[in-house]
Amino acid sequence: MGQFDGQVVIVTGGAMGIGAAHSRGFAAAGAKVAVADLDEVAANAVAREIGGLALKVDVSDEEGTKAMAKAAFDRYGRIDVLINNAALFSTILPKKPWTEIPVQEWDRVMAVNVRGMMLAARAVFPYMKAQGKGRIVNTSSNTALSGVPFLLHYVTSKGAIIALTRALARELGDSGITVNVITPGLVSTEGVKKGYGQEMIDARIAARSIKREQVPEDLVGAAMFLASDASAFITGQVINVDGGQIMH
Ligand SMILES: NC(=O)c1ccc[n+]([C@@H]2O[C@H](COP(=O)([O-])OP(=O)(O)OC[C@H]3O[C@@H](n4cnc5c(N)ncnc54)[C@H](O)[C@@H]3O)[C@@H](O)[C@H]2O)c1
Repeated sequence: MGQFDGQVVIVTGGAMGIGAAHSRGFAAAGAKVAVADLDEVAANAVAREIGGLALKVDVSDEEGTKAMAKAAFDRYGRIDVLINNAALFSTILPKKPWTEIPVQEWDRVMAVNVRGMMLAARAVFPYMKAQGKGRIVNTSSNTALSGVPFLLHYVTSKGAIIALTRALARELGDSGITVNVITPGLVSTEGVKKGYGQEMIDARIAARSIKREQVPEDLVGAAMFLASDASAFITGQVINVDGGQIMH
């Protein structure tokens, strides 16, 4: 018996990095997982591995997110959990001073990281509302708490996700839907290892209470707690998962 037997979980950005860890983790706990990602090939590979459903989606596109939710519902008959994880992160490297961020790049980051999370939530909302229950787990970043330099668009977008979570939780409380947000520290995904390198990873390790690398699997337990009945009376909250770097 898995903890999420019979439940349907959509993981946006579920094909790589932290999202892939969520896809695998929820599947291992018995959930039917829709791996929703811009990268169709990678989504197919993860979905095949876990026996899930691969969905190609650009979360910044309203019709795309509606089609994502409909496809998951059509296949599995319900939607219990949205792991709102997709974002432009490792793909917007390298870091640059705020004066050098092109306006188009700023707008694209906001479109994917902020509008995308709102649209994915809005797409699953009718299904969760009809069920009288749902769990939305958003992904921010501890950079929104600490103010990391040279990624102004990214850090701003992640701050917006905290505000979005709080305001949306107020609107959805009466629908039986909780909305919470996780703020990971620097996670050693392939993108981070390639883009930032070991020096930055080592600096973060030194800043933590628990002095080791953060791996994608470190996020799965918090997401499962926020997706489970154990967190039924918790909404609008920020759970910081960074090995005790920032004490929020
Ligand atoms: N890795 C870290 O150190 C770190 C730290 C804090 C927060 N986060 C957050 O965690 C989440 C996952 O980060 P990651 O490091 O695993 O990222 P990643 O870049 O490794 O993976 C992101 C995934 O999202 C997909 N994606 C990108 N744009 C998309 C779009 N428009 N529509 C659908 N899918 C799209 C990509 O194809 C990819 O599979 C992000 O929200 C990120 O901001 C990451």
